Amino acid sequence: RTPLVIDTDPGIDDALAILLALASPEVELQLVTTVHGNVELAQVTENALRVLHLGGRSDVPVAAGARVSLVHPQPERAGHVHGAAGLGGVQLPPSPAAADPRPAVVALAELLTASPTPVTVAAIGPLTNIALLLAAHPEAAARIGRLVVMGGSAGRGGNVTAAAEFNIWSDPEAAQVVLSSSVPTVLVGLDVTLPTVLTEEGIARFAGAGPVGRSAAAILQQYVDHSRDAYGAAGVVVHDALALTEAIAPGTLGTVRRDVVVDTTPGPGRGQTLVDRRAVSRSASAVEVAETVDSGAAVEFLVSRLARLDA
Ligand code: BDR
Ligand code: CA
Repeated sequence: RTPLVIDTDPGIDDALAILLALASPEVELQLVTTVHGNVELAQVTENALRVLHLGGRSDVPVAAGARVSLVHPQPERAGHVHGAAGLGGVQLPPSPAAADPRPAVVALAELLTASPTPVTVAAIGPLTNIALLLAAHPEAAARIGRLVVMGGSAGRGGNVTAAAEFNIWSDPEAAQVVLSSSVPTVLVGLDVTLPTVLTEEGIARFAGAGPVGRSAAAILQQYVDHSRDAYGAAGVVVHDALALTEAIAPGTLGTVRRDVVVDTTPGPGRGQTLVDRRAVSRSASAVEVAETVDSGAAVEFLVSRLARLDA
């Protein structure tokens, strides 16, 4: 089983991503680190504890990380998408566990240093913690086996501005640090997440499996209602869960090695990922950019795994 860390800002799709990891025997979730993003740090940390408790794994440590972005404050949180408290208006029961006293980067550095086998890190929020790890503990960061990032867009424009995807836009300077590092990185952006739609029928399958599935479906409901009312969509895009699928089952997504630069200027392009698609890159800092996906198979993977949590 591959050791796994999830760096996250739950978040409706973050919650699904965590539950997917718990349902997957290929990986062993050893640590969750939290980062400001969809809502404030204290709230996302509480949400991470509660989601793990829901999944029956309150033993997994949760270490809180960065409260703010590296250089400029994140312009806006995403309470309008995820609910003011981040989990779509659902109040999950509190966990008996408290947050780990260590700061996220310390917990992460200690785990990476001690692990006898390479660790996969799934970063599904703004990249502030990972940039801080690279700055403070570069030798530990060098031990990351695989960093799977949900963020950015190569050719689909943005979702929070015309140019930028939310996680990258929330801390573009951190994203630039991470995406120009030599850590082996897979970038799972809007090109593959937007076409991957979890339908109401799919949700009904795990909702009917038992109490964990029912809570997961309840967390998703506000997101489903919003997508239906705003876009007439028959389902929702659960970005972070697709990134976790690639973390759990490498090769799920078709990737190509590309040079990627993040726009850190203050103009309208701020937070855009500029993916050089003219050629395959040989640079050590190149990123495996996810360009193709079998969306049907990815959704089936998610739905069938979530249903297992109640088995
Ligand atoms: C990303 O933004 C957040 O709101 C989601 O949790 C996901 O990580 C999608 O752009
Ligand atoms: Ca997220």
